[in-house]
Amino acid sequence: MWFQLFLLVSSAAFIYAADPNIYRNCSETELCSQLRELQRQNRYEVIIEGATFSKGVASFRVEGVDGSNLFLNITAIEGNIFRVQIEEAVSSRYHLENVLDGEPTIIDFDDVQLTLDSASIIVGNRRAYVTTSPLSVEFYTDEMLQLVIEGDRLTLDNNELSHPFTFGVNFPQAARLYGLHEHADNLALRTTAPGGDDPYRVRTMDLTNYELHSTMAMYGAIPALYGHGVNSTSGLFLHNAAELWVETSNNEAYFMADSGAFDLFVLLGPSIKEVVRQYASLTGVAHLPPIWTLGYHQCRWGYADQEDVQTVIADLDNYDFPVDVIWLDIQHTNNMKFFTWNPGNFSTPFEMLKNLSSTHRYLITLSDPHFKVEEGYFVYDEALARDFFIKNPNGTVFEDQCWPGTSAWMDYLNPEARDYYSSLYLYENWNGTTSTLGGIWNDMNEAAIFNEPNEKTFPYDIIHYGGVSNREIHNMYGYLQTMATHKGLVDRDNGTLRPFILTRAHFAGSQRYAAFWTGDNTAEWGFIPISYSMCLSANLLGISFCGADVGGFFGEPTEELLQRFYQAGAWLPFFREHSNIGSERREPYLYPDNVQQVIREAIKTRYAHLPVWYTLFYEHNRNADPVIRPLFYHYPEDADAFDVDDQLLVGSDILVKVVGEAGVESVQTYFPGGEDLLWFSAQLDGVVYQGTGFNEVPVTIDRIPVFYREGSIISTKQTPRPSTTDMKDDGYTLIAILDDVNLSASGTVYIDDNLSFDYQDSLKYNYISLTANATNVVVSYIDNSDSEGFELVIDEVITVSLVKSKSVSSGEYVKKVYSYTADGVQLSSIRFSGKESVTIKLE
Ligand code: GLC
Repeated sequence: MWFQLFLLVSSAAFIYAADPNIYRNCSETELCSQLRELQRQNRYEVIIEGATFSKGVASFRVEGVDGSNLFLNITAIEGNIFRVQIEEAVSSRYHLENVLDGEPTIIDFDDVQLTLDSASIIVGNRRAYVTTSPLSVEFYTDEMLQLVIEGDRLTLDNNELSHPFTFGVNFPQAARLYGLHEHADNLALRTTAPGGDDPYRVRTMDLTNYELHSTMAMYGAIPALYGHGVNSTSGLFLHNAAELWVETSNNEAYFMADSGAFDLFVLLGPSIKEVVRQYASLTGVAHLPPIWTLGYHQCRWGYADQEDVQTVIADLDNYDFPVDVIWLDIQHTNNMKFFTWNPGNFSTPFEMLKNLSSTHRYLITLSDPHFKVEEGYFVYDEALARDFFIKNPNGTVFEDQCWPGTSAWMDYLNPEARDYYSSLYLYENWNGTTSTLGGIWNDMNEAAIFNEPNEKTFPYDIIHYGGVSNREIHNMYGYLQTMATHKGLVDRDNGTLRPFILTRAHFAGSQRYAAFWTGDNTAEWGFIPISYSMCLSANLLGISFCGADVGGFFGEPTEELLQRFYQAGAWLPFFREHSNIGSERREPYLYPDNVQQVIREAIKTRYAHLPVWYTLFYEHNRNADPVIRPLFYHYPEDADAFDVDDQLLVGSDILVKVVGEAGVESVQTYFPGGEDLLWFSAQLDGVVYQGTGFNEVPVTIDRIPVFYREGSIISTKQTPRPSTTDMKDDGYTLIAILDDVNLSASGTVYIDDNLSFDYQDSLKYNYISLTANATNVVVSYIDNSDSEGFELVIDEVITVSLVKSKSVSSGEYVKKVYSYTADGVQLSSIRFSGKESVTIKLE
């Protein structure tokens, strides 16, 4: 068995190109091939007479030229959002449940203005304008046209198996479209067209050996799309989990949906920041992760016994690599039966977990959505008896092949099946587990199946709870699994500890339950920059906690590639090395000293910036702002930044550029913000750039471009420690990058117990605003929360400022270090508690 697996993955390692014999393109798919070249035509007419307007809902009758009767509902939603629903008057379309983060709040219209062939629906400064023939709906903010639903490509159809529909959207202000995650493509969507590139396919699939710069469907499917231009941003979210194909240009999109409801949320921004927040107001935000998940994760498909676990951690310690988590892949199970331990190799899981816990480390294990078909396997027996498996159309249990051999798939659409699955995570039900098994890895949940005729995923017609075919909910299957896993992990600790889940499949709203990674990438250079564009795309669509397999899952990284992967990965929210069972082992201590040193430095840099990451995750939870951001998020008027996607901003203050090529001595790095904004090298070594666009930045093997924004305060912890847990009581080093005009800087820092939900349940946290100038730092408290025990301890303040204003080149700034140690200026570290603002003098 293991030998077969080895062949499977190691042979796959030599080619990286998704197999065209398995995965269909547009012309091989009925939906796309039939609808792609749909002519613009007047198929529907809105009837103004008899329209009703009540409590924020406008309802129109729509007549099809084919005699069909439909309705068009336009609902005003709080926060500059409209909801547009178009459907047959008598309809059997499936309507999604479980996706929205609560029912959106409807608000009343301020005014409605009607003519014979139009209706204006006015709410504050926004307006929806309906024209009758051809049907179209225009959306304005402050009389600026933001988005148009183009009715001349609207079709709604019904056949025995599905309910396909199409529509066009125009973003008149946009220079670029973003979204429709997940694709291994640039952040800004490309122009697709018949005879050119295939439309973006949005369908959760296990795309083995995925190609770069492709519109093929992948593990995640988020049907949200934003149009951004120098003047404004708007967006949409299609509340639908069926397969989509979407033709795109720089400001237009044409949606082909396989089934389900036309239920569209229109997000009227008008800035990118507001569009992101509007999307999050519908689909939710992530709770804070436990802090240890922001450290370094060591993973491999191949940690095959308890001794291995202990040795890897001991070696990482011996070689001075900080690490928080070690991961176990399918091998920890008894013959691929999830919720069991391999009795030979993992015979004393309690002991293993106790050992890990004594080093302040956590374990994460893999749990796939399928179950081995084997009588006597308790999960299989119970799920079968309680009718929890997905069925064939003829009513028998759907069985197919996956890691365990013949398997059945839990039907997570069924609330009782979800509850049962959740209960499996309880300590009493899963022998040998403790809270040191701090997280779960939900993999293969697109769902992946070793059956090539169905593109390695579910057939469209298999049946879920309530007679719903997979076609209707395909894209949210994995999401439903993570929802159940999340509940299980919350329940097992009685709601006290924050769970962590890593999922491969993801959908709109997944951020509420899980982090995700970009799946089975390859040890090739192009996979470094693509990890930034894929994670940035997800961050715009609500899911901040994203990373890529450092090193590349398939293949063997060269030493240089591995080092660059670590340096890039250290600046993505989720930071894990992972490799497949057929690759050579690649724990960082296995490399020569010079390579180790570079990797160690990358990991330590990550740990030093832990307060930045933790604060950003809090601010995501508080405001829905993404943790990492493309440049245009903060510089929306800078059209040259729209296509920059191998760089990111961590929050607003740290700019990082990948090195994604072998043997380079410099990389083109884009500095945004104009000539008045300076970016200071994070090494604080005298290198400064103005925000005037591309610059050639020198790199060495131990250095990629990382810059701090002028005017920011970066909160760090500089004492090297083996794990984040060990850093808990360490004081902070504040790095104040004083702006060259006012000599001032500002920032925030968030502190809590790192692990529990007390920050939500009993407001136990401390959220602090910091301002600095050349002589003072002012600490003030943002909220009146219960901050006892979460004092800010400042060990050191470093100020950085230009010597001469506007004289921008190397070596012309001063760095001053104020050290609050026993023999320093002050008696010891300064501990801030209480709620009064405090000023500390830097003299
Ligand atoms: C899938 C996962 C990969 C994992 C493997 C074995 O390929 O994407 O990360 O190691 O399955 O479970």
